[in-house]
Amino acid sequence: MRVHVRGGGIVGLACAAELLDRGHDVVVVDPTPGCGASAVAAGMLSPGGEAWHGEPDVHRLGVASARLWPAYAARLAVPLHACGTLLVGHDAGDGQEVDRQVQVLAGLGVAVDVLPPGAARDLEPGLGRTSRALLLHDAAVDPRAVVAALLDRLGDRVRAREPDATPDAVVVATGARLPQPWTSLVRGVRGEVVRLRTSDGPRHVVRGWVAGEPVYLVPRAGGEVVVGATVEEHDAAPVPTAGGVLRLLRAARVLLPALDRAELLACEARDRPATRDHLPLVGPTHDPRTWLAAGHFRHGVLLAPLTARMLADALEGAAPDPAVDPRRLLPTPDGGVTCA
Ligand code: GLY
Repeated sequence: MRVHVRGGGIVGLACAAELLDRGHDVVVVDPTPGCGASAVAAGMLSPGGEAWHGEPDVHRLGVASARLWPAYAARLAVPLHACGTLLVGHDAGDGQEVDRQVQVLAGLGVAVDVLPPGAARDLEPGLGRTSRALLLHDAAVDPRAVVAALLDRLGDRVRAREPDATPDAVVVATGARLPQPWTSLVRGVRGEVVRLRTSDGPRHVVRGWVAGEPVYLVPRAGGEVVVGATVEEHDAAPVPTAGGVLRLLRAARVLLPALDRAELLACEARDRPATRDHLPLVGPTHDPRTWLAAGHFRHGVLLAPLTARMLADALEGAAPDPAVDPRRLLPTPDGGVTCA
């Protein structure tokens, strides 16, 4: 099939690379590939860290995609950091957030143990005061490195403008900005991140709560630490704000006091593409030539390899997973909605 993938973020590029591997003739259309949410994503491959009440399918898909990541990263020659995530609470109230995460995971059939007092600091000596901690055995990847490897793989198939030839299929992978008639299926949820550089960064991903403020620290090779991320529903352009950056830095410094001396590299913001049920849109629409691969909310990097497979399978005629089938949220041609 001749396929045009509109949108060159990690999801669109992963879909295009998968289709190319399967022998399809693919072009990605994006004037600034890799400059959307993928450019600021922290790259935590942590279904457990992202698990939330009432979202069992998000967790199920995250676990399935996390299993694909080691081979996927190896194929792209991108390092995968199996560093694990320390989930920590600062004060007693923050400790309850950790307990709640343990309960959410228990409800999903995942047993995790709270670490004994002092064990978190044995694992991560630079930690500040913590009231509660647990360790998740997961990984992280640098999304910019993944995007660069995918762009390399796709070469001149990534174009700024749509080619003239009519495609057999169009895959819309434009994240938080979908064209009509799908625009209202995805809303932007701003995430601000701060990039620091330090020789005192964490060994693990450290994710926690500080006086109720959620924050994560993701170490990268070369001493960079990504501090993220705010979560804000909004209609304006996604820019970093003084208040957001202040909250992130204040919380980060409590979790890891040595960050006080870190070099400030950048403050950035993008919109996460959120659907109503926080599950992505991967598969067919009511237009027989248009497929969607969008709306991945907080999970675009984690779900990229699985999305690529699911999208390619659907394009080749397989029935999509109902949890991500875009038609669950789409008005039917007769004006109804297939699924609330
Ligand atoms: N997945 C992390 C975030 O969206 O902030």
